[in-house]
Amino acid sequence: MSFIVAIDGPAGTGKGTVTEILSKKFKLLNIDTGATYRCVTLDMINKKIGIEELDKIKELLKNIKIELKIEDNKQQVYLNGENVTDKIRSKEVSSLVSQVSSIKEVRYSMVDLQRKMAEGKDVIMEGRDIGTYVFPSADVKIYLDADVEERAKRRFKQNKEKGINMSYVEILENIKKRDENDKKKEIGALKVAADAEVIDSTTKSIKQVVREISSIIIEKKKQIKQTKKIYKIRKETAWKKFVRKIVKTILKTAYRIAYRVKITGSVPEEGAYILCCNHINYLDAAAIVLFNKRKVNFVAKEDLFTHGILDWLGHLFDAIPIKRNMQDIEAMKRCLKVLKNGELLGIFPEGTRKGMEKNMKAKNGAAFMAIKGKVKVIPVGIHGTFKPFSKVYMNYGEPIDFSGYTKDDLDKATEIIMEQIVMLTKKED
Ligand code: DC
Repeated sequence: MSFIVAIDGPAGTGKGTVTEILSKKFKLLNIDTGATYRCVTLDMINKKIGIEELDKIKELLKNIKIELKIEDNKQQVYLNGENVTDKIRSKEVSSLVSQVSSIKEVRYSMVDLQRKMAEGKDVIMEGRDIGTYVFPSADVKIYLDADVEERAKRRFKQNKEKGINMSYVEILENIKKRDENDKKKEIGALKVAADAEVIDSTTKSIKQVVREISSIIIEKKKQIKQTKKIYKIRKETAWKKFVRKIVKTILKTAYRIAYRVKITGSVPEEGAYILCCNHINYLDAAAIVLFNKRKVNFVAKEDLFTHGILDWLGHLFDAIPIKRNMQDIEAMKRCLKVLKNGELLGIFPEGTRKGMEKNMKAKNGAAFMAIKGKVKVIPVGIHGTFKPFSKVYMNYGEPIDFSGYTKDDLDKATEIIMEQIVMLTKKED
């Protein structure tokens, strides 16, 4: 899986410089997407193709060859085999590029090229629409901004160093025009992605901006590493089975010392079932797992696995981590696999502790799994104060058959499950 950093924002915010430093620091391939639009513009100028000549532009796009290469530690841009690194920054190209990049056909072609350039690689991409359009699921999204006057000043200084002759006023006007044009593009308009970190560089040095983005990248990398660890499936082995048996016996004994567990009903000895239980305390899942002869693969929120011992226990008992507040396809696949293997799956339809008390709508995940996996649901009502030495009641109901239900009946099926659970929580002895 590749790692993608998107750096978006208007011209003159320092994107290019910051991206170059970060690409070296984190060993990421640097893809300057603006350079691709500049190449198309230069090619059009070279071939004397006007902005209105769409057929000729389409033909040009079919044959254009754009390459970004690193030579002597610096990025070099090649257009049809010629090094155009400086030429694409000329006044003529800068004045026309925004209009060229607004042409739908140009955008589709360049976005396609940019995605290909990034394929399977760890990259840092700078542009206008990376986090919103080119890679909407980029790992890190930064929107760099700055006051327009400050941006014009920076570009003026940059141009002077490169020997490009443009006045400050000319640059300011050019940037303002480009900002406006870039913001109202039909496809890939310049805008802040909902999940982007906005950094205003007006009063910040390059070093400061690099430091800020670096810590965001480091944090994200840490998160990815942790998620990988959480989601890693520990294979079933004889040793794992043995350890699980010992741990189960110890914890069960401790549980029996702490609480007087009263169980009614049971789970069939074979076959796939979904155990749906109300969730009043962290210890209710433990009760179901420990007091079942069969292994119950419980669905548990991802954060639970960030605590050392719980992570270890979670993996030992094959709990399935799930990302909350989103559709976690990976978790769903694992749940369906458990059912396909004829095992028990444990789910709290409330989604969170005391969901019912908080008047929260029960989640449809269990009903979905039952209908999709064609398995019955066993409702479980658990109640007790969980004060030391108090009684904990765990009542298993009759399996509920949802055959004949479709995905349009999820709400109805969830309602039935919840009704049964509530009834079972009222049962004592
Ligand atoms: O970043 P730059 O100034 O080199 O970009 C040149 C032009 O290309 C600019 O007007 C906006 C456009 N562009 C775009 O529309 N989408 C991108 N991802 C990158 C640049």
